[in-house]
Amino acid sequence: MCGIVGYIGPRDAYPILIKGLKRLEYRGYDSAGIALLNEGLNVYKCRGKVADLEAFIHDKDISGTLGMAHTRWATHGEPNDVNAHPHFSQSENLAIIHNGIIENYQTLKEELINRGHQFSSDTDTEVLIQLVEDIIENENVELEEAIRIALNQVVGAYAIVIISKDDKDTLYVARKGSPLVVGIGENEFFLASDATPIVEYTKNVVYLDDEEIAIIRRNGDFKIKTIKNKEKTPYIQKLELNLSALEKGGFDHFMLKEIYEQPKSILDSIRGRLRPNGEVILGGILDYEQKIFNARRIIIIACGTSWHAGLVGEYLIEDIARIPVEVEYASEFRYRNPVITEDDVVIAISQSGETADTLAAIEMAKSKGATILGICNVVGSSIARATHAGVYTHAGPEIGVASTKAFTAQVTILILLALRIARKKGHITQSKYHQYFHEIELIPEKIEKTLMVNKFVKEIAEKYKGARNFLYLGRGYNFPVALEGALKLKEISYIHAEGYPAAEMKHGPIALIDEEMPVVFIAPNTGTYEKVVSNIEEVKARKGKIIAIVTEGDTAVRRLADYVIEIPETEEFLTPLLATIPLQLLSYHIGVMRGCNIDQPRNLAKSVTVE
Ligand code: G6P
Repeated sequence: MCGIVGYIGPRDAYPILIKGLKRLEYRGYDSAGIALLNEGLNVYKCRGKVADLEAFIHDKDISGTLGMAHTRWATHGEPNDVNAHPHFSQSENLAIIHNGIIENYQTLKEELINRGHQFSSDTDTEVLIQLVEDIIENENVELEEAIRIALNQVVGAYAIVIISKDDKDTLYVARKGSPLVVGIGENEFFLASDATPIVEYTKNVVYLDDEEIAIIRRNGDFKIKTIKNKEKTPYIQKLELNLSALEKGGFDHFMLKEIYEQPKSILDSIRGRLRPNGEVILGGILDYEQKIFNARRIIIIACGTSWHAGLVGEYLIEDIARIPVEVEYASEFRYRNPVITEDDVVIAISQSGETADTLAAIEMAKSKGATILGICNVVGSSIARATHAGVYTHAGPEIGVASTKAFTAQVTILILLALRIARKKGHITQSKYHQYFHEIELIPEKIEKTLMVNKFVKEIAEKYKGARNFLYLGRGYNFPVALEGALKLKEISYIHAEGYPAAEMKHGPIALIDEEMPVVFIAPNTGTYEKVVSNIEEVKARKGKIIAIVTEGDTAVRRLADYVIEIPETEEFLTPLLATIPLQLLSYHIGVMRGCNIDQPRNLAKSVTVE
């Protein structure tokens, strides 16, 4: 949610900032802006994407070796030129960019208006920079001290960068609740909301912690203090990020690239964890295993696609590992006063590791004494750091806003966890365990095979691209897959779609079925297959159009369906990993055919750092 980039050093800042913004555009793309410090403090900003900003700037002065830039996902104030960041203070001596929400901005704004300040935007961000200037003027303090005082007054979340016309050699940076990474080069520094804009310049980074302010000077001086004015020693970490992972690599869209990466991303998720001696080892949570084995229950918290992975986790852990599981939307959980005890284990699932609701739910559960584990994709992210222990999915950077490979990687980790618990608690026979273990090893290959349906799925997309509604139905392990399939279609193509447990269809959605309605069934030959076939009959009897995901060689569904998409045979608990793939492809192709912006669907952002 909003991307931030900054630079100070010997090079021209502009190309570094623009390139960085493009890397961060997944975080928001309704307006963009840049501030460059040279003879003066030049701010350029406009509604639209980074490309619009570049066009707007093409004849402007872009000199300067210190600067900052921002791509916005609007919260306060509509996305227009005025509300775009950076924002000036009233004197135009200071400029700020901000990711997050200042919750008490109304109160602060009223006080500032009473003291004669005028505002040009509707944003909470402008209030913060005016407050800083007000403190400088009225309390007669330097900028650094004024920022500290101001940050002690604000309630909410922020990652900010402030620059001053009168100080050509300093960047002021702070964070609380929104991420900020500082890249440390040779006599130069880079700032960004995540490491992707930084990695091509340096691998040495410092992740700022909450309530820390970094003062970064051109002479190489880099200080971190808390907002209580306590000096901290920067902890420098090495990035393990590969530049090629940030490029489209010949694919038209990141989403398609990421769909095709799944054989590899799943292999990376299981690498080193399925040991040659037949053990499943999740190193990151070894120290907490006794807690997990003895857990009274497991509560999974997540948002969006990660919540769907959590639902698959519920089926898995209850079925195979026999521990009661609840799955909660983090946004509901945090506000509903749930009963949590020290015997509960909470698993937070998040691709970005930055989702504000998930983070807040973690803090709440932690305060009640639960053990908190994370399943995150982004190394060093806020959620990864807020949990007691965790497992990384290792799916590699996911750039397309619609989550694909992160979902299958999350499910993979949950599978490994369920199997580990089952084995250790003795809920699985030796032979079943080995059978499952071996079948997991075959999954990357089977995904590779599943991807061969792409061309056929494209034909199906052609046929139904004009539909106004879609229904997705599945049961058991594949009910969450139905939800995920529907979510993908909504996100990418803006077609209304609903996911439902197949048997629940008769309690409502069946009323929607007519000859116009495509119904996607996830119907592998496992578990409740016969029951799902009956549901397919019910749709057929009402003239609905049937697209079915079936196991290779299926005949019963083939008789009924308009289209069948085959996936390789596998164990029931592994079918979500295969059945998801054609659904991702279906939404991708329909989105492309409808002319939608695949990697940056309207109104969405990849990392939702506001409530
Ligand atoms: C946003 C993204 C989704 C994602 C959800 C949760 O809505 O667009 O793709 O599933 O946030 O994000 P997380 O990073 O916590 O998995």
